[in-house]
Amino acid sequence: MNHSTSTTSRATSRLSTDAEGIAEAARLLREGGLVALPTETVYGLAADATSGKAVAGIYAAKERPSFNPLIAHLPSIEAARREGLFDANALALAKAFWPGPLTLVVPVSSGCTVSELARAGLDSVALRVPAHPLAHAVLEAVGRPIAAPSANRSGRVSATSAAHALADLDGRIDAVLDAGPTSIGVESTIISCLDGAPKLLRPGGVPRAAIEGVIGRSLVLAGEAGAAPISPGLLASHYAPAAQVRLDAAAPRADEAWLGFGPEPEGCTLPAIALNLSPTGDLAEAAANLFGFMRRLDAQRPAAIAVASVPEHGLGEAINDRLRRAAAPR
Ligand code: TXA
Ligand code: MG
Repeated sequence: MNHSTSTTSRATSRLSTDAEGIAEAARLLREGGLVALPTETVYGLAADATSGKAVAGIYAAKERPSFNPLIAHLPSIEAARREGLFDANALALAKAFWPGPLTLVVPVSSGCTVSELARAGLDSVALRVPAHPLAHAVLEAVGRPIAAPSANRSGRVSATSAAHALADLDGRIDAVLDAGPTSIGVESTIISCLDGAPKLLRPGGVPRAAIEGVIGRSLVLAGEAGAAPISPGLLASHYAPAAQVRLDAAAPRADEAWLGFGPEPEGCTLPAIALNLSPTGDLAEAAANLFGFMRRLDAQRPAAIAVASVPEHGLGEAINDRLRRAAAPR
């Protein structure tokens, strides 16, 4: 199958989502295995975050550049506070949005158990308490922080269903827990709370305005003028279909596939390869469809994909961020 990497090929078992499946997922994780599991944002490729060896398996399976630090997932605020130091802003954000689609980057605590490799050697750690009941059940059963990047090969769009995770990782991981498509569809919002003013490292499932409402000030997007260096994992071309992507298109050109949003453009015949993120212009629906639709369009091998413009407010900021990465030159 894949002779170009050192990843040993293994049978990937499909686990049931009942108590038995959860117990088996937890057993595999405690033994250093790799399990794709749902969160409310995207499917995660999970491993024991406290074990450098287990975490190395994630990088190998994903073929991910090893300098990318990973998010450690916990079942509760209390468990997260054992791993990192929360200032007043971090605590307020955790209380407002956990469990949920928010990741906080905080300084490591003296008792932090998240491995150096999962942190890519940084003295900060990215922590998240997901809301998905199955993710929560597995985290409770494992009793250790679980590192989980999105369950796709590096450079591919994030997996929002078990089928997407398997398309990239079947035969490279131990198991998958299939709980159907994820409800949010874009990754968590990442906020760094390292030195006073919180910074937005990645727009995501919690809209910027909701964060700003809790901290009572406006957020700087890291990477924008005057902001701190961008999060190392945020490679410009991270979310990359094989096709060229053209953004803010009024209508598709002759050779392009079409990814619409809202009402379709008037007076133009849509190409055979066309999907609409949300005909009614609902940003939550669009976010949930985003990665799956990009995969479906790309699978038909169009030369290019034209994408309608998506408003920048609410979840639109995260959607546009992912679209810009998909369109970045590579
Ligand atoms: O919704 C999500 O966040 C999903 C689900 C599975 O939880 N996970 C996810 O993980 O998107 P991943 O590995 O694809 O993205 C983690 C991001 C990367 O951009 C990484 O650079 C950043 O978090 N990150 C992790 N630790 C960091 C740190 N200490 N400082 C700055 N950025 C960090
Ligand atoms: Mg990812």
